[in-house]
Amino acid sequence: MKLAMFSTKPYDQVSFNNANAVHGHHISYIEAPLNQHTAALASGFEAVCIFVNDHADKGVLEILKRSGCELIVLRCAGFNNVDLTAAQALGIRVARVPAYSPNAVAEHALALILTLNRKTHRAYNRVREGNFALDGLMGFDLIGKTVGLVGAGKIGEIFAKVMQALGCDVIIHDPYASADIAKHYELVSFDTLVERADILSLHCPLTPQTHHLISRSVLQRCKPGMMLINTSRGKIVDTKAAIEALKNGQLGALGLDVYEEEGDLFFADLSNQVIQDDTFMRLLTFPNVLITGHQGFFTREALANIAETTLNNVTAHSSGEGECFDVVPDKVIAS
Ligand code: NAI
Repeated sequence: MKLAMFSTKPYDQVSFNNANAVHGHHISYIEAPLNQHTAALASGFEAVCIFVNDHADKGVLEILKRSGCELIVLRCAGFNNVDLTAAQALGIRVARVPAYSPNAVAEHALALILTLNRKTHRAYNRVREGNFALDGLMGFDLIGKTVGLVGAGKIGEIFAKVMQALGCDVIIHDPYASADIAKHYELVSFDTLVERADILSLHCPLTPQTHHLISRSVLQRCKPGMMLINTSRGKIVDTKAAIEALKNGQLGALGLDVYEEEGDLFFADLSNQVIQDDTFMRLLTFPNVLITGHQGFFTREALANIAETTLNNVTAHSSGEGECFDVVPDKVIAS
């Protein structure tokens, strides 16, 4: 099939060229993100491949449909950036990569926790400058601390195991938790989770129900000094409320791999530009905030799995054989 791939980075080309050796699709790599202005670049392509910050809203989907698109393959797990109802109405099939390396994201959440707790990012700079003072670097033992998870699907389950192995008490809020999770972990209401967690880690999808789930009132109810980790989707946290909670000490530390307005920032080198997002820049001023640019998924193994599953989806669609991991509107909440 002819596949137009938006928001392509050099590492995507490497993994997709490797995986395509057995599929033989014609892939056109486009650096630009998909939006109203760039959708026309996919003219004549039957399939379009997109990533987390591409926008496949109704208007974009209509342009793609007119250009001959019949399939959108997301090279990620989340699908909040696609208007699934519009896609279905237009007869555009949408598929995704349901799991590529849940370990990668769970391990990244752990990296954020350990760095924020033991302040290795600050220690690294100090030691390089010959400053061996320890003031300001004190952390806490993880053993015995309560780690609360919002969502325990593929990533959350691995993260729960990892934190349990470190001696933490793991509690989970997940209205759709599997029987296995219910058997092995304490399931609690969202309110109880917020009240008891020393570390709160988000592993649910972005849906209308989870948009700004971490709000001002929630942050007011959490344990003073709680650490909040978000490797899921930026809009689950109300960033302005988090800044307020950091300023008054209610939030003790904040680790983000995702950010509400990351579409204007992440995955690009902006080091020569003046960043206009004042909220993001305010976050960077806190010593107890650590931000990474949506790199949780970014491991060798995950990139190979993403390319493999994405091209399998394309081949399954074109040949009618094999499994295509469809996303349909009624799965939005549960996925
Ligand atoms: P998953 O679909 O396996 O698990 C999500 C879990 O959240 C499910 O158990 C579901 O029941 C639960 N859930 C749904 N609505 C909820 C709610 N209102 N409250 C609490 N729990 C709720 O998804 P997976 O693979 O574990 O991924 C989780 C999220 O991680 C994705 O939706 C995506 O946004 C994010 N992600 C981030 C990456 C990164 O690079 N930082 C990479 C991959 C995924």
